[in-house]
Amino acid sequence: MPEFWLVAIPATSKIRHWTRPVKLGYGHPMAERKFLGEVYGLATPDDTRQFYDSWAESYDSEVSENGYATPARVAEALARHASSKEIELLDFGCGTGLSGLALLRAGFTNIDGADLSADMLKGAAEKQVYRRLWQVDAGSPVPSSYAAIAAIGVIGSGAAPAEVFDAIFESLRPGTLFAFSFNDHTLADPEYESRLHAKTANGSGRLLFQEYGPHLPGLDMKSNVYVIEKT
Ligand SMILES: C[S@@+](CC[C@H](N)C(=O)[O-])C[C@H]1O[C@@H](n2cnc3c(N)ncnc32)[C@H](O)[C@@H]1O
Repeated sequence: MPEFWLVAIPATSKIRHWTRPVKLGYGHPMAERKFLGEVYGLATPDDTRQFYDSWAESYDSEVSENGYATPARVAEALARHASSKEIELLDFGCGTGLSGLALLRAGFTNIDGADLSADMLKGAAEKQVYRRLWQVDAGSPVPSSYAAIAAIGVIGSGAAPAEVFDAIFESLRPGTLFAFSFNDHTLADPEYESRLHAKTANGSGRLLFQEYGPHLPGLDMKSNVYVIEKT
């Protein structure tokens, strides 16, 4: 098993007593692969699934140590606009379940989850916040039975393509809600927000909430959180 060593060699005499080598065992956070620096370049659904399968074990710790704030922001925004906390709610792209936990903390009680990555779904199952969990193929139809769908950190650069926005929106029945986020990388590509603007412009969607705020403060990244109603 590989071992990683960090040897501090201070430049000044004041801190020369720090020169003792510090052994970082395998599994130490500083010795682990970091995925956040790689995620925004994924190209195909297969690349995306394999990438998240590899990330699943360390995903929670890596995003949490960077202050992952978007799930709570989306969950609270949805809670403000939902007719009840007992609605049937799908956490689409639920990953390891951090978004489901945020939805539960916001008061929702009937949450199902779906994701592309089987290994991310294992983490979601361990959190015990979902009634049902299942694996989806990229491009497979989104169920039309839900009163609200959340896609938290899912659509955009580093995860699902813009077509997934339309697939979720088309699955919704009139009066139901779609709560989602676009991070800074996604906002930089007009392809994503233009899909939302097209729905509000043609009257098929009504924007109930939009707020720009913290996403991964540890990386100085922000996101827009939205809630739209299918009209
Ligand atoms: C950044 S993670 C967010 C996970 C979770 N919602 C959260 O807030 O922690 C993105 C998730 O989207 C999933 N994903 C990417 N493309 C997808 C697609 N086309 N359909 C369903 N899930 C997808 C990935 O497997 C991954 O679990």
